[in-house]
Amino acid sequence: MPTPLDLRVVSDPPALFQAAANEFASQAVASVKTAGRFTVALAGGSTPKSFYSLLASNDRDRLPWDKMFFFWGDERHVPPDHPESNYRMAFEALLSKVPVPAGNVFRIPAENPDANRAAEAYEQTLHDFFQPPVGTFPRFDLILLGMGPDGHAASLFPESKALHERSRLVVANWVEKFKTHRITLTLPVLNQAATVMFVVSGQDKSAALKEVLEGSQPPDFYPSKLVRPTNGNLIWLVDQAAASALSKPRS
Ligand code: 6PG
Repeated sequence: MPTPLDLRVVSDPPALFQAAANEFASQAVASVKTAGRFTVALAGGSTPKSFYSLLASNDRDRLPWDKMFFFWGDERHVPPDHPESNYRMAFEALLSKVPVPAGNVFRIPAENPDANRAAEAYEQTLHDFFQPPVGTFPRFDLILLGMGPDGHAASLFPESKALHERSRLVVANWVEKFKTHRITLTLPVLNQAATVMFVVSGQDKSAALKEVLEGSQPPDFYPSKLVRPTNGNLIWLVDQAAASALSKPRS
């Protein structure tokens, strides 16, 4: 049965970041209550930075940070102190400001000059932490994703090799337009999550959002179409500008 669409459209970026922070916080509290821990894969790019900062300022004293475990959905092939590092962004906006034990933070070792080795190492980290039975995939409580203007999610870019990966948990994906590898979780892992939440802002994403939610182009051209949790929830949290091309007015 296809994953029901939970599309939430809010007025503007501040409302988007607040709504994302609220959803993150309530998911964290609920998971720790029921399972004793909360496992989350953070999104990179620029959009989530503001809601990470909101979490750090508004929820610092009310979330069970010692029972929360942080991973990344993808990483650029750069060291952790590089300006383009997704780890660095999340560390500066959130993790350096909240009492999360260092042992609860599992970054992608993208400083490894061999991107494939970095992907293998992170795959081992996921195996060691989640210990998924053979033939199954780790189940994150929450995976946060952004979406590019080309419809990519994590580092699953249009017509890229990683779109067809069915057994690995993490791969190094060559991105022709950037002439570099990105290290990314694969679709089987994304689609095994309890909840996947896209957080999308801005006019420049409106055409891709319309195609992903309403269009008929092959999913290889708009990889966000391939993110459909098999036994979980899919939330699209977007602002009005990103939703502006959708056929039916949404509010
Ligand atoms: C990355 C991301 C990527 C990002 C989108 C949206 O490493 O860049 O993981 O998938 O979420 O490109 O990026 P913006 O939020 O910057 O628009």
